[in-house]
Amino acid sequence: MSLKRNILDLRKRKEKVLQGGGEKAIQKQVAMGKLTARERVTSILDEDSFHEYDLFVEHEARDFGMEKKQLHGDGVIIGTGTIYGEPVCIFAQDFTVAGGSLGLMHARKITKIMDHALKMRVPLIGINDSGGARIQEGVNSLAGYGEIFFRNTLASGVIPQLSVILGPCAGGAVYSPALTDFVFVVENISKMFITGPEVIKTVLGEEISMEELGGARVHSEITGNAHFYAQSEYECFEQIKKLLTFIPWHNGKKAKAFPPKPPKPEYKIEEIVPADPTQPYDIRNVIKAIADDSDFFEIMENFARNIVIGFGRMNGETVGFVANQPMVLAGVLDCDSSDKAARFIRYCDSFNIPIVTLEDMPGYLPGVDQEHMGVIRHGAKILYAYSEATVPKITVIIRKAYGGGYIAMNSRHMKADFMFAWPTAEIAVMGPEGAANIIFRKEIMAAEDPEAMRKEKVAEYKEKFANPYVAAAKGYIDTVIEPEETRNMLLHSIEVSNNKVDRRPEKKHGIPPF
Ligand code: HXC
Repeated sequence: MSLKRNILDLRKRKEKVLQGGGEKAIQKQVAMGKLTARERVTSILDEDSFHEYDLFVEHEARDFGMEKKQLHGDGVIIGTGTIYGEPVCIFAQDFTVAGGSLGLMHARKITKIMDHALKMRVPLIGINDSGGARIQEGVNSLAGYGEIFFRNTLASGVIPQLSVILGPCAGGAVYSPALTDFVFVVENISKMFITGPEVIKTVLGEEISMEELGGARVHSEITGNAHFYAQSEYECFEQIKKLLTFIPWHNGKKAKAFPPKPPKPEYKIEEIVPADPTQPYDIRNVIKAIADDSDFFEIMENFARNIVIGFGRMNGETVGFVANQPMVLAGVLDCDSSDKAARFIRYCDSFNIPIVTLEDMPGYLPGVDQEHMGVIRHGAKILYAYSEATVPKITVIIRKAYGGGYIAMNSRHMKADFMFAWPTAEIAVMGPEGAANIIFRKEIMAAEDPEAMRKEKVAEYKEKFANPYVAAAKGYIDTVIEPEETRNMLLHSIEVSNNKVDRRPEKKHGIPPF
């Protein structure tokens, strides 16, 4: 064959593969409001930057009629490309080919690109749209998942791993996203569950739709499995790209610096926080009053809203914000908010991102529900994560810092590098009301007017302990600052911490309260 004919032959073969599961299956995909796998990949990556590999891979299954089936690319697309000019690895399951089900060769393609991402130290983006383990391939499919999970774990903390759920993600398939750093879901499109509605109906006799069981809202509001929720695939792709502007390409690097910008003038820090400690406010406005350009990229916005996490920039450099949200449950710490914060703290620590903690919370949530849900075990995660983190750690106590929460929220005792408090800070073992009721109970009960005596004792306790000066006198707080000084103090302390070295005892790894 001449070179020309060889080239024509190659083109013909490629053309065939690019048809995926064929016109009918593609029409079905489009009718469901979904983009095709290749459209997704090319929409996320820089224009014309996608290079595809393993196009010509074929499955090797020989049972249940599989020997007669040709599955183009075995239902998954893998390749490399760039985002904002920086290289990334990507895979996208193609639902039009055997429902994107995962067989041996499909899994091999995914693990090939995963190995590449880890070796080349570039982020991995995985687009999930699959009916799960390919039933006809039996244990080979299970083996495939196992190989993927192992690599997810190996790459964890080395390269960013992003999972995008753009269709069903059923059965064991859910565990790869769960092992990755960030999970993206899209309204009406994402469906994530271990056992589907059919099985639930058969085993439990309960009827439930896929949406109610594991739709986008369920995972962004109830389970906490998803970190980003979008109304459309295109909105989701913008979120992916924005996230990548805040994080480094691997754990040996810092995130790219941007030109510094002051916060927008409409966020006036002194006007955001009410002086009355019982009045709520939105802590995100405080973050916007101190972050460059008032740009705060929130993560898990709709889950455990009593704590706020996300990225912003200070002086052009990425910072991770962890902040109690007084607007929701007074910003109390509970099982879910501890999980949410702890994982984010570990992310920032793995990827060299300084952590700024803004504190205003009345401690851990009391009650049988929380105790029985394991608030001890979950609450311990936040202590572990802050103690373990060696990136620059700076805390600003705004109002309440009570009890275990005071310790947990990156206190000096968790080895915060800088501890600042506003003059409105109240640092105490517990709230003045509760404290007075316990330690002055006898006096209150014996008084002629117990209510008047209670008020007097609350005021006395407040006067003595509910301020920042007792802690400042012990050096637990480095300085008490005016709210207006917050941004400058943070900018300075981040700059001073630039070459921070904090060596810990050598060990294989710790045993966090997972
Ligand atoms: C083989 C599959 C498949 C699978 C779908 N298909 N899932 N083939 N193995 N797991 C095929 C269908 O046979 C069909 O082929 C095509 O993909 C499209 O599927 P439809 O059912 O027509 O699509 P739709 O109606 O949109 O429904 C999608 C679905 C449904 C909800 C995902 O297909 C489904 O329930 N699939 C099974 C999901 C599941 O239970 N997976 C768990 C597997 S066990 P044709 O040729 O007709 O077009 C598992 C354990 C792994 O994952 C554990 C690892 C640790």
